[in-house]
Amino acid sequence: MTFDRKTRIAPSILSADFANFGAEIRAIEEQGADWVHVDVMDGHFVPNLTFGPPAVKAFRPHVKTVMDVHLMIAPVDPYIDAYAQAGADILTAHVEAGPHIHRTLQAIRAAGMKAGVALNPGTPAEAVAHLLDLADLVCVMTVNPGFGGQSFIDMTGKIRQLRAMIGDRPVHIEVDGGVDPKTAPLVVQAGADVLVAGSAVFRGGSVAQPRVYGDNIRAIRTAADGVPA
Ligand code: DX5
Ligand code: ZN
Repeated sequence: MTFDRKTRIAPSILSADFANFGAEIRAIEEQGADWVHVDVMDGHFVPNLTFGPPAVKAFRPHVKTVMDVHLMIAPVDPYIDAYAQAGADILTAHVEAGPHIHRTLQAIRAAGMKAGVALNPGTPAEAVAHLLDLADLVCVMTVNPGFGGQSFIDMTGKIRQLRAMIGDRPVHIEVDGGVDPKTAPLVVQAGADVLVAGSAVFRGGSVAQPRVYGDNIRAIRTAADGVPA
């Protein structure tokens, strides 16, 4: 994974057909996804429950790009090795998930993965000020985590602030929640480079109609990069 700030689209498979993950992952990658975003929820840190390490491990052989695993769980540290074994390329933990996020990011890197740190909408940018040399990605939540399909919460001020704090460090700014062709340009102009999108990618398509995924991904990318469709 070489670092640059070109806009990347990371479809969240939270909006995929849960009976057909392998084919769904192959379809979004064939249709232009840059990364595959996997939302891990524990029914405790967030009020919803999704995938554990064995499920993530089963996704791995289908992912040719980058498996971007977003942990919405607390605690994080006891599970880091399991997600490394499952084949996560990037492992993101929430700054709100416990008192020792600094140690968590060190442990994620020590386990051989890229380390991400996520911020809930109510958490200020300053919460990651002392973590930027330990992180490969900062994930700005633009919904309260737990569910796909929620409305975008404007965090462009926080994104701009983070972009300035990051400076020339090789740290991605990812935005997660309610990203679609309307909201994508706002966050990219503010400094985001990785756009997670669940419902806006999977809406209207299926593994039998994969071109809809391609059209949806292109619509987000075109809007984000300001190129007229
Ligand atoms: C929310 C998840 C998101 C979500 C995005 O808790 O972290 O990744 O699936 O879904 P949309 O794009 O539908 O808001
Ligand atoms: Zn996510």
